[in-house]
Amino acid sequence: MPTQDTPCEELCEALGATTPCSRFMGPEAGEDGGLLEKVKCEAPFLCEGRRPEGLCSDGAVATGTPALGALFARMAHLEAASVPAFERLADELAAHGAPERLVRAARRAAKDEVRHASAMESLAQRHGAPMPELTVAPFQPRTLVALAIENAVEGCVRETFGALLAGWQARSAEDAQVRESLATIAPDELRHAELSWAIDAWALEQLSPEARERVEAARREAWRELEQDAASSHLPEAVARVSGLPSAEVARGLVRELALELMPGALA
Ligand SMILES: [Fe+2]
Ligand SMILES: [Fe+2]
Repeated sequence: MPTQDTPCEELCEALGATTPCSRFMGPEAGEDGGLLEKVKCEAPFLCEGRRPEGLCSDGAVATGTPALGALFARMAHLEAASVPAFERLADELAAHGAPERLVRAARRAAKDEVRHASAMESLAQRHGAPMPELTVAPFQPRTLVALAIENAVEGCVRETFGALLAGWQARSAEDAQVRESLATIAPDELRHAELSWAIDAWALEQLSPEARERVEAARREAWRELEQDAASSHLPEAVARVSGLPSAEVARGLVRELALELMPGALA
């Protein structure tokens, strides 16, 4: 059981933090009138979705927020970040002359993500966490190959895994509200994953063989990164039970099975 004297490195290890902890002097005064030293460390949660280019915020909440609230806050942040990601995608698809059904589906997905963000925000608030601020740098025009690479990484890999994870949580979470929210989100995410693959098929048809190879290389790399993220994810046991998130070992196995199905040979 940690006490006030437990060194922060020990606490970080128990939490599964992978980034070095940072120390800073807090704004509040301690009992002796001096400034309180604060320590910040981060444990990686596994949550997946479509991150827009230029995403500057990470969904982290203040130190001391209950772990379950912090997890839902991060999920809410990612859902909220997916809104501008899909809005931009819809505009770009239209500008690149993509079929109207893809443009319409991307606009519909942006609306889904608004609902997802608010469902996750209410879970975060219920568990003592505020909605994190979302900061995205202004978008610049980009080429079709840049769009296709982002879609392959964020959509075909990460959102597809996100759909699987949402379905997993909808079945495994101990908390009824979590199960209910994720059961609504999971089919939407599955549709978003299918949309990613439909956009991928259309974009690849428009691109040169060299550009196509760049998209495939980015996709392969994204599977590797996702496998690493899954393997290094860590949650206190109670948080895993309530949220229904799989252990690092199970998550890694799910990533590997999905990659084997969708891009055989991507993972050694
Ligand atoms: Fe979502
Ligand atoms: Fe989504």
